Amino acid sequence: MSDSTDVFEIMHTTRAMRRLKPDPVPDDLIRKILEAGICAANGGNTQRWRFLVIKDPKIKKAVQVFYKRAFDEVIGPRYATSAPPPGVTPERYKRQHAAVEYLTEHYHQAPVWIVACIEDTAPPNRWAGASIYPAVQNMLLAARALGLGSTLTTRHLLYEKEAEAALGLPEGVHSYAILPIGYPMGRFGPVGRGVLDAFVYQDQWGKPYAGL
Ligand SMILES: Cc1cc2nc3c(=O)[nH]c(=O)nc-3n(C[C@H](O)[C@H](O)[C@H](O)COP(=O)(O)O)c2cc1C
Repeated sequence: MSDSTDVFEIMHTTRAMRRLKPDPVPDDLIRKILEAGICAANGGNTQRWRFLVIKDPKIKKAVQVFYKRAFDEVIGPRYATSAPPPGVTPERYKRQHAAVEYLTEHYHQAPVWIVACIEDTAPPNRWAGASIYPAVQNMLLAARALGLGSTLTTRHLLYEKEAEAALGLPEGVHSYAILPIGYPMGRFGPVGRGVLDAFVYQDQWGKPYAGL
């Protein structure tokens, strides 16, 4: 399942891959991922996206300190007390919690990070997000297609100022996601989501979509 190029299979198996090997990732694969990123739609085609590739262990470690602090203070307690989301069994949710904790401890050991940023004089907002997350998703799908694992992470934003200073972002540039990328330890598998009719309505909020 790791070498498929069928777009539907790729989408259905692009899971958060949080357990990554520290082995280096060739630059030509990172280039392919970045090229997929900039194929994405963006508002007015202004292309204010910027991508910071981080390999320096010192920078990654400096950011991981805040990523972990946010886990200890907010995310860990939330996992411990919340119910599984739709389509996820308690066992699977437990495994997710363990994987989230694993990534927290090993975040900086992923060989490559791509930090997805927007250069803008306005503070981060929905329009800016809508112009960077399509690129982020393209990159996740491209990584999956190349047999590389990653996870869309935003937790560093709980310590936004500190993390962005550690990343060395200049004024007017904000990070929207960090993608830790590496060869996965486990295998790609199907994503676990709820059923469509729980999320889709037709013509009127709450009215079932007849097309299902
Ligand atoms: C906006 C957003 C922020 C996320 N931030 C984090 C994060 O900081 N750390 C993390 O481990 N996963 C993060 N995730 C990944 C989600 O937790 C993951 O997609 C979800 O658990 C479903 O996992 P699955 O795709 O493997 O089914 C984030 C996902 C999104 C869309």
